[in-house]
This record gives sequence, C-alpha cells and structure tokens, in this order.
Amino acid sequence: MIKMILACDLNGVIGNGNSLPWGRSLPYDLNRFKELTEGHIVVMGRKTFESLGSKPLPNRENVILTRDVNYFTDLTHYNSREKENNLFVSHHIEHILDEYDRTIDGKDLWIIGGMNVYEQFMPYVQEIYITIVNGEFEGDTKLNPEFKYNLSNDFSLYTMSAKGADSENKYSMSFEKHVRVKGEYK
Ligand SMILES: NC(=O)c1ccc[n+]([C@@H]2O[C@H](COP(=O)([O-])OP(=O)(O)OC[C@H]3O[C@@H](n4cnc5c(N)ncnc54)[C@H](OP(=O)(O)O)[C@@H]3O)[C@@H](O)[C@H]2O)c1
Repeated sequence: MIKMILACDLNGVIGNGNSLPWGRSLPYDLNRFKELTEGHIVVMGRKTFESLGSKPLPNRENVILTRDVNYFTDLTHYNSREKENNLFVSHHIEHILDEYDRTIDGKDLWIIGGMNVYEQFMPYVQEIYITIVNGEFEGDTKLNPEFKYNLSNDFSLYTMSAKGADSENKYSMSFEKHVRVKGEYK
C-alpha cells in the first residue's frame, strides 16, 4: 500500500531552513515514524534527504528523487554495498510507482516528504498519517491549499489519538490517520 506520513504545526507548517521547525524536540514522534516505516520503502525528495544529513534511514529501502542524473555517483561517501542495499536514486515518480507495482512483496511505500514530493504522490496515496504539533512555528514550507482540499475532499479521518507534552517532548501532539474514500489510487 502507498502511504504518506508528515508532521505539521497548527498552521500547516512542515519545514524551516531545510529542517523540522520543532527540531528534535519531539522524540516520541520520531520514534513513531521509525516504528511505522521500518522494514518498508521510504521515498523522499533530494532536499529532505539532505536535511537528514544525506544518509539513508536504516532498516528501510530509501528512494531519493532528484532530477540530477549524477546524484547517485556523487554520493561518494557510501561504499557500493550500502548503496546496493538501501539507497536508490530515481529521476521520475512514474518509475518508482512502476517498480513498486512490479516488485511488491508485502512492503509499504511510504512517502516521507517534503512538500514537493507529497504533492506529486497525493493521487496515488491510500493512507495519510499526520502528526499535528500543538504550536505555531516559523517556517518556509507549508501544506498548501490544494493539499488541504484533497485531504478533506478525498480522504476520511479514520483514527485519532493524542499525547501530552512531557519532560522529553516539548509540545503536545495529535495523531491522525486519513484513509482515501474518493479518487484514483493503486
Ligand atoms: N514535517 C515533516 O513531516 C517533513 C517531512 C519531510 C520534509 N520536511 C521538510 O520539508 C522541507 C523540504 O521540502 P521541499 O518541498 O522543499 O523539498 P523536497 O520535496 O524534500 O525535495 C524537492 C526535490 O526533490 C526532487 N524532485 C521532486 N520531484 C521530482 C520529480 N518528479 N522528479 C525528479 N526529482 C524530483 C528535486 O530535486 P533536485 O533539485 O535535486 O532535482 C526537488 O528539488 C524541509 O524543510 C524538510 O525539513 C518536513
């Protein structure tokens, strides 16, 4: 199944200066992200990959989208085994979708951002997991009106839970799962 996961603040802000607006102040959410995506395939834009320190996420197949045809070769800090096992570079979303359809083996395809990539995969996604961080942050990357329209029009809120702030997590959060009820998907 193709799934999407993102975290936003109360105003839909998801990024600032190529990092999370709330930094690493929400380990609970990072851990939740890890638990949901481990063992699966994660797809991200080149900017998000670089925001993670240009390192693939462990225990997941990482697919990086870029139009730069030399990007893979330029990742010289990886040995070929690492590259072979969990780091793939793609230049077209259609190739990712075709390859996923061809080789599907019980793994989910998780679209993990950023905004540019969320928008393009929206028509193919069946479930969207959203963490809403209970705060208002400075940001340069935000969920756009079209994304919000598609979310409210084509998806239905399926489950919701919440977690309060604590000594390790600076802000309270709510967790939403939206399931597609309308539109195209594979
Ligand atoms: N809060 C969250 O849940 C969350 C999650 C992820 C990211 N973020 C934040 O989001 C921000 C980054 O988002 P963004 O929208 O600016 O960038 P992005 O989506 O991470 O990356 C955009 C890049 O992906 C490549 N790309 C996109 N579509 C492509 C296509 N169809 N074919 C080939 N390549 C394609 C291009 O790379 P090239 O320029 O190399 O061609 C493009 O510049 C950061 O602040 C990050 O921290 C937040």
